[in-house]
This record gives sequence, C-alpha cells and structure tokens, in this order.
Amino acid sequence: MFAWRSKIEAFPKSHAGMEAVGKIIFMSMALSRENYLLHKLHSLSGVVPVGFYMIQHLTLNSFTIAGPDRFNGVIGFFESLPKHILLTLEIVAIWVPLLFHAVYGTYIASRAKSNYFSEKYRWSQNRMFFLQRLSGIVAFMFLVYHIITTTGAKYANGVKAVEYAAFQEKFTSNGYIFLVLYFIGVLACSYHLCYGIWNFCIRWGITVNEKAQMNVQKLSGALFVAVTLLGWAALIGFLIHPKGGTGDVHSVQAGQPLTASLQR
Ligand code: HEM
Repeated sequence: MFAWRSKIEAFPKSHAGMEAVGKIIFMSMALSRENYLLHKLHSLSGVVPVGFYMIQHLTLNSFTIAGPDRFNGVIGFFESLPKHILLTLEIVAIWVPLLFHAVYGTYIASRAKSNYFSEKYRWSQNRMFFLQRLSGIVAFMFLVYHIITTTGAKYANGVKAVEYAAFQEKFTSNGYIFLVLYFIGVLACSYHLCYGIWNFCIRWGITVNEKAQMNVQKLSGALFVAVTLLGWAALIGFLIHPKGGTGDVHSVQAGQPLTASLQR
C-alpha cells in the first residue's frame, strides 16, 4: 500500500533528492486518483442541471398524448426565443454539463471493478452498481445519437426535423426499430438518473445512516418507474395520433407565454 515510501527510502538520503522524489510521486498519485472536487461536481451535474433538464424535457414531450399541435406548440415556444439566448442556454445549461458528466463518468467507470458476477458477491447493491455503469454507457450512446438527430438536424436542416410529423414517421417506419431504441434509451436514462439520485444523497451527506439510505432507495425505485412511464408516454403519443397535426411552429410569437401557445 505504501510502495511510494519504500521508493523514497531507497533514494540517496540527501534532503533535496528526497523532496524532489516526494514531489514527483505525489503528483503522479494525484493524477492517477479520482479528484474529490471533480467527483462531487460530477455527482451534482448529474442531478442539476442534467437530471432536472431530463424531467422537464420528458414532461413537455409527453404533450404528444394531447396531440401533434400541443407537441409542436412546445417546439414553437423554444423556436420563438431569440437565437443567441437559446444557443447560450443550450451550451451552458445542457451541453457543457452533459459532456463533463459523460467524460468524467467514463473515467470513473473505467476504474470501477464490478464484482456482481463473482459467486461470492451477488448482492442487490452490487447488481445496482453494475446496472448503473451499464445504463450510463447505454444512455450516453443514446444521447449522442439523439442530440445529433434532433438539435443537430434542426440547426442543419431547419425546424421540420424535430416537428411531430418527423418523429412520427421515424417511429412508425423500418419495422419500429427506432421506437424500440427510444424505449430502451429512455429506460437507461431513467435508471441512471434515479439510481444516481440515491448515490448523490450519500455523496453529499444527505443520507448518512442505513435507514435513511434504504428510504431513499425506495424513493429512487418509485421515481424510476414514474420517469420511465413519463418518457414512454411521450413515445406512445406518437402512435395514438397518426397524423402530423395542423400547427405551424412558427406561429408562436417571441415572448408569448407557453400556455398561450398550448391553449390554441
Ligand atoms: C421520450 C422521447 C424523447 C423525445 C420525443 C425527445 C425529443 C427531443 C427533441 C424534439 C429535441 C430537440 C429540441 C430542439 O432543439 O428544439 C431533443 C433534444 C434533446 N434531448 Fe430529447 N427527447 C426524448 C428523450 C430524451 C431523453 C430520455 C433525454 C435524456 C436526458 C433527452 C435529452 C435531450 C437532450 C440533451 C437534447 C438536446 C437539447 C438541446 O440541445 O436543446 N431526450 N429531444
């Protein structure tokens, strides 16, 4: 465990030499260890803003249940915001935190050893830990694809790429393969967020004893079911309203309250 000590002891016992070796060993240890502050920031960024964004995003997407015009009304509201404000919001509140969370999360996952598959350690906590890493990888792949084909396509080809009709067409063609991928993507994102909330409470010292941790675990389980159903409801909405709707997303005026566009 203290291999660095033996390295220092083996070095000529001059003061300057000891100090130099100590510094080099300390720096290499610091670089190879997870950083305490970065790990805390990673945990925070998963809940706020990324988790918060996901819940509001799925809530607004579930307007598909109320019909194409309601869904397009939401898209139209965001389109009506001044372009520079929308882009700044996207970069600061979504893309940068999401990228940081994904990159640092990959680093943490690459260091973790999952022992669930060893006969001795098949505990539910270990299974949850393994699933959290797995769901993180699936969620990441889903989100890369999702953001490129929604926001990316919108900036490249215009808003039609993210209107109700475009999603409806994608989900009902090619043997429903994209619909299935979305069901899985939503499930992975939801599990990752809800188990992440349980982790967050421990890391930030909110749940310190076992009883509190068990209670939050139950709460996370319930939240997982609710968030998954919310996301799946958005997808089912595309199946129960097969027509693309009559709404023109550009008819929503800048500064008009969201409720006004949705009440039309
Ligand atoms: C339930 C199915 C989903 C639908 C129908 C959907 C729909 C959309 C749409 C229409 C956009 C483009 C918004 C715009 O640029 O105007 C978008 C972007 C995005 N979605 Fe989803 N989404 C779904 C699931 C998810 C999930 C589970 C997540 C997980 C966090 C997610 C995260 C994002 C992110 C990060 C963006 C980029 C936001 C931006 O750059 O403005 N989406 N989605």
